[in-house]
Amino acid sequence: MKRKLLSVILAAAMVTAMLAGCGSKQEEAPAATGGEAGTEAPAAEGEAEAPAESAGGAGGLVGVAMPTKDLQRWNQDGSNMKAELEAAGYTVDLQYASNDNATMVSQIETMIANECKVLVIASIDGDALGTVLAQAKEKNIPVIAYDRLLKNSDAVTYYATFDNYMVGQKQGEYIKEALDLDNAEGPFNLEIFTGDPGDNNATFFYGGAMDVLNPYIDSGKLVIQSGQKEFAEVATANWATETAQSRMDAILASYYADGTTLDVVLCSNDSTALGVTNALDAAYTGEWPIITGQDCDIANVKNMIAGKQSMSIFKDTRTLASQVVKMVDSIMKGEEAEVNDTETYDNGVIVVPSYLCEPVFADANNYKELLIDSGYYTEDDLK
Ligand code: BGC
Repeated sequence: MKRKLLSVILAAAMVTAMLAGCGSKQEEAPAATGGEAGTEAPAAEGEAEAPAESAGGAGGLVGVAMPTKDLQRWNQDGSNMKAELEAAGYTVDLQYASNDNATMVSQIETMIANECKVLVIASIDGDALGTVLAQAKEKNIPVIAYDRLLKNSDAVTYYATFDNYMVGQKQGEYIKEALDLDNAEGPFNLEIFTGDPGDNNATFFYGGAMDVLNPYIDSGKLVIQSGQKEFAEVATANWATETAQSRMDAILASYYADGTTLDVVLCSNDSTALGVTNALDAAYTGEWPIITGQDCDIANVKNMIAGKQSMSIFKDTRTLASQVVKMVDSIMKGEEAEVNDTETYDNGVIVVPSYLCEPVFADANNYKELLIDSGYYTEDDLK
């Protein structure tokens, strides 16, 4: 009952947040692909794909480097950006790197060799591109870090992302409210799954959530039966569902097989939440725990509807794509791009001027309004 009430309150807050938006006009954004990989039949990951000559390609070549097609969101990010950039008159070379740093480096080298005007990069390991970024700088090619910060390089011009700390905070706050941690007696059993250690975002998601939850862990109201709490212990290489699943399998076998109740699993995103859910489906018979997530991937929205995942965070990739296209346009006109944060994202060498979009709470009560009414998914996508 309490959870239901909470959902209604959060849904109302979400609508307000949505109306506030991220400063971009959603009605101008192209519809999402529904998450199906390869709707425009792109080349296989890691394979060379010739940049398509679009009708209005006079704006010049923009290189867009994406990490992987394995996760739904990057397919949407890539295709939204390609469509928006082409509509704005640019030619786009969109590449996916199969989560392999060396592949991404060589794709970016090709983009530079092809004299791209701007690079937009969602890195795999934010620290692994220093040399190729220096090559871009040498050729005066501006670089926009997309969603994930590019670290330890002075060649990064701008960063466009969602407020990553806020994502974690929203997940932590959700857990706090859902368990009524300030009033309920507890204790409650918690396990934690975060993301790839090479992804700067993962530390922000983890930090945002743990800043909310740590006081309750310290007071003993939240208990981590596995004892796995530090970032390195709860990280998930490549954010892989299978990796999260096998860690959850092991935790369940060691700490919950005797009937101990697992009350809540903090998962930083949907791919890890999916692994946790799969493990629970296979080997856990107690009351279903609260599970957090992020991205509103189709499989996870289905799980929210089925009551297997409690919440997710909606990061409208159309909004981020629009913001990046605006950045590209400003750069090409020789103007300063719009930013709203010049303090948070110190990449180790410079503080990168950033534009942070607002992440939005999603659950089974508001997903229709958020995802279907806005045209992000169709009803059929979620069947
Ligand atoms: C993104 C998340 C995504 C994760 C795994 C992060 O950098 O911000 O939205 O779930 O990577 O791809």
